[in-house]
Amino acid sequence: MGEIKKIAVMTSGGDSPGMNAAIRSVVRTCAYYRVDCVGIYRGYQGMIEDDFIPLDARSVKGIINKGGTFLKSARSKDFMTKEGRKQAHANLKERGVDGLVVIGGDGSFTGGVVFNKEYDFPIIGIPGTIDNDIYGTSHTLGYDTALNTTVDAIDKIRDTASSHNRLFFIEVMGRDAGFIALNAGVGAGAEEILIPEEDLGLERMLESLERSRRTGKTSSIVVVAEGDRTGKNVFELAEYVEENLPEYEVRVSVLGHMVRGGNPSCFDRVLASRLGVKAVELLIDGKTNLMVGLNNNKVATTDLEEAIKGSNEINKELLRVSDIMSI
Ligand code: F6P
Repeated sequence: MGEIKKIAVMTSGGDSPGMNAAIRSVVRTCAYYRVDCVGIYRGYQGMIEDDFIPLDARSVKGIINKGGTFLKSARSKDFMTKEGRKQAHANLKERGVDGLVVIGGDGSFTGGVVFNKEYDFPIIGIPGTIDNDIYGTSHTLGYDTALNTTVDAIDKIRDTASSHNRLFFIEVMGRDAGFIALNAGVGAGAEEILIPEEDLGLERMLESLERSRRTGKTSSIVVVAEGDRTGKNVFELAEYVEENLPEYEVRVSVLGHMVRGGNPSCFDRVLASRLGVKAVELLIDGKTNLMVGLNNNKVATTDLEEAIKGSNEINKELLRVSDIMSI
């Protein structure tokens, strides 16, 4: 691999708070090492459609504190085809790009691995997703902010729940992972937490809610991850409880995409800055197919394929803590 003279950066998949801070870090690290930098709009789709923008240190001013991603994001179907990737590669070559930083989740990394195999193109991944479901890092970009946003929303719902003596089912994002539900649930004092990784059973939930009423609880919160294992969506769960425990007045709140927005927390801004620096330094050092992440608060690298294949385990101890807290 020759000397790296131009690096492209893009965001791909679901956006997450901290992506802008990571772009800023990549761009400024490039400037620091006198390597040219370009941004690609809309991830792989923009790569195929030749939607590039030159970036210098000043182009990324005032964005460290902004949610979303100014480079926009997309899930590209065209990049899943050989022709799409061929066009993308031709555009990168035409523009003299010789290294790529992909900020995204496992879908984005999968695209990167395939592309690297076909064209031997140097790629480094920065994990950006609120779901925290990437192997090789204790924290993905945006996860900490999403937790704080979720806890804040649950706190607010609790105010109205307790004013009316109601039970609330609150659905949070997490199609395949329960990190947000579990941690925000414990942090916000939820009665029950339903996650994709563990089927605790509907009976258990009913028993717990019944016991709460008997022992004097007047309102309750059940946090449900989008992909929970009960087989019922949040509205069906509410109906189920109303049928089985008619003494409860039940309401549902779906937090949805709200949790993906907002200004990144200090933690996410610092994480983004650290990972961006490392990603560029790795490319300059001739490394490829790695993901940069956090391990015991140290920046660590994981093979991109391993990061895709492995799974980040939830902390089961937290389920036990939640159980004890809901006595
Ligand atoms: O992958 C992150 C995530 O936020 C999931 O938790 C959620 O299921 C999904 O994105 C929603 O994706 P979309 O924005 O395409 O609806």
